[in-house]
Amino acid sequence: MTKKIALISGLTGQDGSYLAEFLLSKGYEVHGFIRRASSINTKRIDHLLFHNGIEDHPNIVGHYGDLCNSEQITNLIYNLQPSEIYNLGAQSHVKVSFEIPEYTSDVTGVGTLRMLEAIRRSGVKSRFYQASSSEMFGGSPPPQNEHSPFRPRSPYAIAKLYSYWTVVNYREGYNLWASNGILFNHESPRRGETFVTRKIADGVAKIVKGLQKELRLGNLDAERDWGYAPEYVEAMWLMLQHDQPDDFVIGTGHKYTVRDFVKEAFEYKDLDWQKYVVVDERYFRPTEVDSLQADYSKAKKILGWEPKTSFKQLVRIMVDAATDTLNKTIVNIKD
Ligand code: NAP
Ligand code: GDD
Repeated sequence: MTKKIALISGLTGQDGSYLAEFLLSKGYEVHGFIRRASSINTKRIDHLLFHNGIEDHPNIVGHYGDLCNSEQITNLIYNLQPSEIYNLGAQSHVKVSFEIPEYTSDVTGVGTLRMLEAIRRSGVKSRFYQASSSEMFGGSPPPQNEHSPFRPRSPYAIAKLYSYWTVVNYREGYNLWASNGILFNHESPRRGETFVTRKIADGVAKIVKGLQKELRLGNLDAERDWGYAPEYVEAMWLMLQHDQPDDFVIGTGHKYTVRDFVKEAFEYKDLDWQKYVVVDERYFRPTEVDSLQADYSKAKKILGWEPKTSFKQLVRIMVDAATDTLNKTIVNIKD
């Protein structure tokens, strides 16, 4: 049997790194976009790129590529002829999207159009996964499923909605094999440092070590449905193994406030969160998404997908990882 080829935009991100691991374990040849930056941005995938720490891994290749550059996208898709394409690349931070709305629209919105146009024009028979987001539901009341109305509340969510509808339009209009995974928040030790769960986990670890005195956060009342990222990349893959393209909500079905996350993380380390957390308006958003909670019954029924990690386990995984990383850094400094 010929080896399956997958192309991932956003390979260097949280999900891209877990998806690459997952696909490699299934025998895929994995290719991904790497954004050219002045300093190295591959820390989440270095263990995959460099086999035994030195030689190049035979089954994973990074290519310079940017979602703002149609030529690179088209060349890569045409030359590789991937069987599966996962479009995970994005300016993915909601608060930042209010500060750079035009750039966010270009990468997170028009970037998807560039990918789909490259597939359409080249005639390559790829299955396409779009990283759609629960942020698209915005002000729509929970629980949200595939039939809930979209009421986006940020430039990021609007850009994701543009992508969502472009996928639907290319599926219906050009018969492209394209699916939207509408994923609710998913976290891990590889989460970017400025997302709230990672910020809380890092803050707790530093407070325990006496390296930080307070943790400044924004809205503690927002409710999110938080799951564990490695389980969510399997759902992406399952969507592309299904017999037809379709759209699926993925989440845990449980919602907690940011305050609940804070409390759980501090109590795990026997700390009273109220002594350390300071609410700072700098972290508020012009418009907030108040409550997200997934109804993932369609994915459960059709794909057989279910979440496994509980909220409490997720908090502990993140605080433990933040503590380990800090301990290693301190040892290195002492060395
Ligand atoms: P992430 O960690 O922020 O990763 C984003 C990836 O996109 C990074 O590899 C980043 O590259 C890349 N990227 C940014 N701008 C780009 C550009 N102009 N061209 C090409 N690549 C670019 O995000 P994530 O948490 O893994 O999420 C993956 C995808 O799922 C994103 O599209 C996100 O919006 C969406 N999503 C995430 C969640 C969640 O809870 N995590 C939920 C729903 C949907 P650099 O490493 O160079 O920055
Ligand atoms: N980032 C951040 N920093 N958020 C804070 C803070 C803070 O200091 N304090 C409170 N929050 C609140 C935010 O206002 C929001 O209500 C909630 O914590 C979660 O914020 P983030 O972790 O930044 O995630 P998000 O929900 O805005 O967006 C994430 O999930 C989406 C799926 O629903 C991102 O991963 C998006 O890319 C993804 O689409």
